[in-house]
Amino acid sequence: MNTTENKIYYITTPIYYVNDVPHIGHAYTTVAADVMARYQRLRGREVFFLTGTDEHGQKIEKTAAARGLSAQELVDEVVERFRHLWEVLNISNDDFIRTSEERHHKAVSAFFRRVKEAGKIYLGHYEDWYCVPCETFWTEGQLENGNCPECGRPAEKVKEESYFFAMSTFQQQLLDYIEEHPGFIQPKSKRNEILGFLREELRDLSISRCSFKWGIPVPDDPKHVIYVWFDALINYLTAAGYPDDMERFERLWPADVHLIGKDILRFHAVYWPTFLFAAGLPLPKKVFAHGWWTVEGEKMSKSVGNVVDPEAVVEEYGVDAFRYFLLREVPFGLDGDFSQDAIRGRINSELANDLGNLLSRTVSMVKKYRQREIPVAAPDGEYYREFAQLNAEVCDQVAVAMDELSFNKMLAAAWRLVERCNRFIDERAPWALAKDESKAAELDEVLYCVLESLRLLSLYLYPVMPEKAEQMATQLGQPAPLAQRGSEVFAWGGLHGGQVAKGKPLFPRLD
Ligand code: ME8
Ligand code: MG
Repeated sequence: MNTTENKIYYITTPIYYVNDVPHIGHAYTTVAADVMARYQRLRGREVFFLTGTDEHGQKIEKTAAARGLSAQELVDEVVERFRHLWEVLNISNDDFIRTSEERHHKAVSAFFRRVKEAGKIYLGHYEDWYCVPCETFWTEGQLENGNCPECGRPAEKVKEESYFFAMSTFQQQLLDYIEEHPGFIQPKSKRNEILGFLREELRDLSISRCSFKWGIPVPDDPKHVIYVWFDALINYLTAAGYPDDMERFERLWPADVHLIGKDILRFHAVYWPTFLFAAGLPLPKKVFAHGWWTVEGEKMSKSVGNVVDPEAVVEEYGVDAFRYFLLREVPFGLDGDFSQDAIRGRINSELANDLGNLLSRTVSMVKKYRQREIPVAAPDGEYYREFAQLNAEVCDQVAVAMDELSFNKMLAAAWRLVERCNRFIDERAPWALAKDESKAAELDEVLYCVLESLRLLSLYLYPVMPEKAEQMATQLGQPAPLAQRGSEVFAWGGLHGGQVAKGKPLFPRLD
């Protein structure tokens, strides 16, 4: 329905519950989405990057009551913690949606009406169980010793009039869709998990509650509040302009990717697609579920008191080192562990030793041997050709890795350049070449190859470490990464003159 040139690259994070303050898990998804958004902008795409907060539901209402606040007061307070964290983490989101906003009420009401008119919503009675912390309905048989099978906490019995969504009628359509679109649910293990789930009979879904108030009322029946997940998922449409600005909506929807944690896969890979089927709207192109962080080998929990505050990590190590660690440490899609040893190890070896050192010694040599002037190298030189070839490979690997959301592979590809440059300097020993006037052209070529590699590295690394990439570009006397953007951005040979400027070490070593 959209032409490629006209289509805006649309990426989303989950909208986070504001019953609690943000932690490393929330930071992870949002940083990953930011990296993808920055990468697409660097390649010249128009991007719409959405994050926000999920502010309705029984859990929020309960938390507010326990603190003696109104629900609105609670969400207004906690939302600021999220906004602030995204500033600290340099998140470049284009919009921030709150489900308590008027535009979202409108979108949810319109969507509900549309699905009801399609004959896919009916009034009935719900009589089963509900887990408030997970905001999830369960049957008696699904409970484990009376507890929620997801989080292990007690579920509560619910017996009330409820609107139902006829989810069961979409089982086959969804199965067919997943079969026909192998890239829809990623990674593959998660796709298989959903296919397994869909082998069981899909039940209709209760989508309203009468026993509390904090939410969006059912159109024409306001004693019912719309189920928080039905409400929340629609945020992806609201922010794209649904239902008032359908022209804009057409350029944005379907989203290119919903990034989520594996905890909310079923909502995004089963509920959401069936809601969209019912409304006659296209499905998002991809739902990617990443893994779970533990901390020093343990599950993060408030009672254990080991919840990692991302602002404290940034305070200690800097924002770009934290962003780098999150994406380098764990293949996107798998579980990982956050530990002080692991982050310190990566900072000292990869960031300070490999990358920081490479930049600093290169700039020093250009200053010393070439009075800061970036030299010219002949394109038929042996080294020049070797590096052009290596970069072409790296460039391809980066593109493939980013298409697959394999952030760690993308960084590993970039590090091939870092490592080759460091070895190359040791092999060619510019300090020896500098002593011999007849080797001037060779010294120029050696320095050029390393400088051009560093310029390209500032671009490869920009999405992950925007501030450090900017500092690299400055020390290399080059325009800021985003000023170099476009479809040819990663091509070898773009460095033409300029003067290096020594700066502070990129990543000081930690003791
Ligand atoms: O589920 N490791 O909000 P939520 C990795 N409001 N990621 C983690 C994590 C961890 N230990 N803990 C949390 C909701 N996350 C709903 C979403 S979307 C329409 C509605 C991240 O505040 C991960 O992205 O519980 C996970 O999916 C999200 O936080 C859940 O955030
Ligand atoms: Mg949660």
